[in-house]
Amino acid sequence: MDAKVSALLNDQINKEFYSAYLYLDMANFYSQKGLDGFANWYEIQAKEEQDHAMLIYQYLQNNGEQVTLEAIAKPDKTYETPMDPLKAALAHEQYVTSLINTIYEAAQVVKDFRTTQFLDWFIKEQGEEEKNSMDQITKMELYGEDARSLYMLNSELASRTYSAPSLVL
Ligand code: FEO
Repeated sequence: MDAKVSALLNDQINKEFYSAYLYLDMANFYSQKGLDGFANWYEIQAKEEQDHAMLIYQYLQNNGEQVTLEAIAKPDKTYETPMDPLKAALAHEQYVTSLINTIYEAAQVVKDFRTTQFLDWFIKEQGEEEKNSMDQITKMELYGEDARSLYMLNSELASRTYSAPSLVL
């Protein structure tokens, strides 16, 4: 594998684990606010991010590449209102999309089509994650000010269940 593509993928493992940590911190914020449904949603999101990291870890190993695990940064955002993590999550997913696009582009330049095909799943996943984030912001804008509606929104998010990623290596 091209050294730059390999290094970018290795770095993405860290970014995905950081995403997990960031979402766990959001879940923690919602728990403290008594919004257990939002907490559930972000706890599951954190698990999905760990899955993303492990898929890349496995992909590098399957291709005989060296994996180096680096320190995971501390989530340093602070939140005041239930809307704050939602907006931070959207900005973060947009950032992750840009990272995936960068790796995709690097793989394309060196005609590493195995890696672009592997990343196709992530490209689609990023689309879904950005949409989920935008939908949550819209709902919060519409209903977040009203306690009864916020309660229902919280109940909706409480029903999310974890399922393993559809991509199998
Ligand atoms: Fe792994 Fe939310 O992107």
